[in-house]
Amino acid sequence: MSTDKIALVTGYTGETGKALVKELISNNQFKKIILVGRRKVDYTDNKYLEKTEQREIDFDKIDDHAEAFGGADVHFSCLGTTRGKSGAEGFRRVDYDYVVGIARLAKQQGCKHFHLVSSQGANENSYFLYPQVKGQSEAAITKMSFDRLSIYRPAVLMVDRAESRTLERLARTILSYTIQRIAPEWLTTPIDVLGRAMCLNSFTKDRPNVEILDNHAIFRLAEQQSNSESDQSKTTNEL
Ligand SMILES: NC(=O)c1ccc[n+]([C@@H]2O[C@H](COP(=O)([O-])OP(=O)(O)OC[C@H]3O[C@@H](n4cnc5c(N)ncnc54)[C@H](OP(=O)(O)O)[C@@H]3O)[C@@H](O)[C@H]2O)c1
Repeated sequence: MSTDKIALVTGYTGETGKALVKELISNNQFKKIILVGRRKVDYTDNKYLEKTEQREIDFDKIDDHAEAFGGADVHFSCLGTTRGKSGAEGFRRVDYDYVVGIARLAKQQGCKHFHLVSSQGANENSYFLYPQVKGQSEAAITKMSFDRLSIYRPAVLMVDRAESRTLERLARTILSYTIQRIAPEWLTTPIDVLGRAMCLNSFTKDRPNVEILDNHAIFRLAEQQSNSESDQSKTTNEL
């Protein structure tokens, strides 16, 4: 059953963004899903064509695109790059400047609930670039005082990545044969688990106004969804 709420997703062309949008569409609780990115996608699936609206912007001139962030109650930020792909400066530009700029405009445009995909180990005081930048983004967005802020700190994302990242693929292969079998919540986050947790969290009541969800909390939220689905199917079967 659809509500009147409208969602907006940035980073929707990436792996987390794709899993999230798929979940938002199948969950069907949002009336509409606005997708903001630097490029558009040629969707052919009717469900995507009916439910989504794509808005293309230049993130280097983000203030010229304030209106692109309008009309949404809930914002999901899945944007990010890597040092390997963009260099140290490029990484900071995307994972701090763009992400914090997005949050600033979302707030300005009336967004009530901001979801930020950060990372396990985020720490603004870290000596290392990746956790430091992630921690600095979290801190800057926390200061914006959204009615609700949900920060996700997933572990290594388990997904068959469209883009080839040799080292990450190697790490994922090793992890999927070791850690994921023994202790799946320790170092890995399946992409569909993250997407499901983020989607469900938008409609979960009695959560703190500002929350940091570590990997275990992400799994618990996603499980809650699976449990309620199996309860529902149990009830349906019993009827
Ligand atoms: N990979 C992991 O194991 C891992 C673990 C923990 C946390 N995280 C974090 O989780 C988040 C999502 O990760 P992911 O692996 O789903 O990301 P991804 O697949 O690399 O997707 C990144 C998204 O950001 C957009 N983007 C990147 N650079 C951009 C730029 N210069 N201008 C505009 N848009 C840009 C991409 O757009 P295009 O499609 O146009 O490139 C894409 O939509 C990131 O913040 C990441 O740091 C990742």
